[in-house]
Amino acid sequence: MHNATAAVPNSSTIGFAPGLRGDAALFAEMRDAFGQLDHEPLREVLFDSLVAETESVHAIMRSFSGFLEGSQSSDIRRRFFASWQKTNNSAMSVEGLANRMSAEAEAKIGDAEPAKALSLFRAAARLNRVADEDLGVGGQHLHFELFYRMATTFCDQDDIWQSRQYCVPAALEFKSWLDEMRLRSPVIVGLYTLLVHEGYTHAELETIAMPARDWAMTHMGLSDHQARRALAWISVHNGGTEKAHFAHSCASMAYYLKGSGAVIDLQVAGATFRKYFRLKGAVMAQLSETYGQGSR
Ligand SMILES: [Fe+2]
Ligand SMILES: [Fe+2]
Repeated sequence: MHNATAAVPNSSTIGFAPGLRGDAALFAEMRDAFGQLDHEPLREVLFDSLVAETESVHAIMRSFSGFLEGSQSSDIRRRFFASWQKTNNSAMSVEGLANRMSAEAEAKIGDAEPAKALSLFRAAARLNRVADEDLGVGGQHLHFELFYRMATTFCDQDDIWQSRQYCVPAALEFKSWLDEMRLRSPVIVGLYTLLVHEGYTHAELETIAMPARDWAMTHMGLSDHQARRALAWISVHNGGTEKAHFAHSCASMAYYLKGSGAVIDLQVAGATFRKYFRLKGAVMAQLSETYGQGSR
């Protein structure tokens, strides 16, 4: 039995923007997603890593709360959306990891054990399912377009926020670390990043959905309808989408272990999970430093 529930600090919502339930909510949502992982030792490492990175999680929530406290200057809003996007848009590296798996499967065709090749193909297929919504394969809006609409709406209908000059250094570091883990590290390490990312994203977007709507209407002057439209990028990830991605990532890992003969190294997994939270925390902390600066 893991002891994460007892170890998670019972943080209050004091100091957070109205409607933002604080980091206790973020922890609870992550536990909800991570609990789907059948592999018990790995699940415990996931919970333990989350607890070990309480400070990072707190920095993340403090940053969202600080941003949503007021209307912020144009520069701050551009920096926020440019940097936040770097920590969220990762469908390309999910597909890169799936490509690596299917290449491994192709190489096994003709081997004495065709079941292993099939397992690897299935591992790749389950990763494909993680990116379905992002890529609009069911005819939905591309998530990239929804993020563009959201950020551009909140940046005075100007899409200059896409310029790299607005990315805080930690956001670029986060993105290149995540790409490297998925595209150049052993495939199993890439899968560790999938687990932590999908579970975390579920928690982040469920937690900030309502406060972001309040902010859009109270501080950015949008009507309810306009706010819903602008924030569609958040709502399409909620209601179970990201939790399902976490489940697909778990299934992909199970097939990959069966097909490749790779084994889970709990130490490497734990270090990867913790680094994910630390790097995300650093991005959000750098954003926090910018709040209250700049001209409107
Ligand atoms: Fe997405
Ligand atoms: Fe996802």
